[in-house]
Amino acid sequence: MNCFCTGLRGKNEAAEITLGSNSKAKPKKPSATSFSFRELASAARGFKEVNLIGEGGFGKVYKGRLSTGQLVAIKQLRLDGETHQGNREFVTEVLMLSLLHHSNLVKLCGYCTHGDQRLLVYEYMPMGSLEQLLEEKKPLSWKTRLKIAVGAARGLQYLHCSANPPVIYRDLKSANILLDNNLHPKLSDFGLAKLGPVGDNTHVSTRVMGTYGYCAPEYAMSGKLTIKSDIYSFGVVLLELITGRKAMDVTRKQREQSLVAWSRPYMSDRRKVSLIVDPLLEGNYPLRCLHNAIAITAMCLQDQPNLRPSIGDIVVALEYLASEGVSDVSRQPPRQSHSQSDTD
Ligand SMILES: Nc1ncnc2c1ncn2[C@@H]1O[C@H](COP(=O)(O)OP(=O)(O)OP(=O)(O)O)[C@@H](O)[C@H]1O
Ligand SMILES: [Mg+2]
Repeated sequence: MNCFCTGLRGKNEAAEITLGSNSKAKPKKPSATSFSFRELASAARGFKEVNLIGEGGFGKVYKGRLSTGQLVAIKQLRLDGETHQGNREFVTEVLMLSLLHHSNLVKLCGYCTHGDQRLLVYEYMPMGSLEQLLEEKKPLSWKTRLKIAVGAARGLQYLHCSANPPVIYRDLKSANILLDNNLHPKLSDFGLAKLGPVGDNTHVSTRVMGTYGYCAPEYAMSGKLTIKSDIYSFGVVLLELITGRKAMDVTRKQREQSLVAWSRPYMSDRRKVSLIVDPLLEGNYPLRCLHNAIAITAMCLQDQPNLRPSIGDIVVALEYLASEGVSDVSRQPPRQSHSQSDTD
């Protein structure tokens, strides 16, 4: 499934990315710092297990504290031992991430190249990922969910509309939406998806699993990637926020494993829509707002890419809902939870 992971852009393209004239942000010079391995090892207390905060397809992530006192997340990339597969992408990644700046993108503080070691140093996001929050069943109000959706959409809008050429995220999923203490969302890993999985089977399977439930059908079938593939993935994230369910959950019975497939019949029937809403919300959401959020989600999830809305339109629509939702939260009459309603 290399189509998920290999780069579509040219080798040195990061150096050619500019910020369009419609961008409010001024183009900045690359800002990431080069750290020594010793500095980062000391920051992460020797990369001990106790500092490990996560592990993804590309390697382990450690919490660390720099000598300045700043908390950081240090991602230690796994490179293929013999071919050093991934090094070129690492360099491109550092250049690209240091050129793109937005309050809804995780900041790259620096990097380290030391022998076979390739490390990326990001600002630390204390609340972890949206995936974790949903998995741990943390109480997230309707208003907070909309706020997270708006922030993630703004980050994606920046990638699609302000960078020239547009940056296609390729790996938009709740695990890549990180949150600060105020639950302000930031997109992460928006370039790392280019790192190839060659020579690392675990890596491949993690990537495929991680991407499967979010992948636009045309991308899965042909590997043809456009910014509209990101819109589909964004629709899946919206659906996760609304239902509290994972995009792909193999622990559920067969027909409920794919969130999109399971939700479709409910989304197209206004009378049934509230049956898929996260039971943790306990009916605390404005019904009209829910219907509108579902309508946006359904548009993002259309099979034909050209029918999906642009991220600019999505931002406007979600911002409107978020401003409405604040003043209009009312308790819905208790309904059957989706698991009850769905038993055969
Ligand atoms: N900047 C950060 N601040 C705090 N925690 C982070 C940060 N970056 C990553 N993490 C944590 O590390 C975990 C693993 O992240 P990573 O990006 O390596 O994998 P992933 O996104 O879950 O999957 P994949 O990389 O395979 O797509 C995240 O789920 C998150 O909990
Ligand atoms: Mg990630």
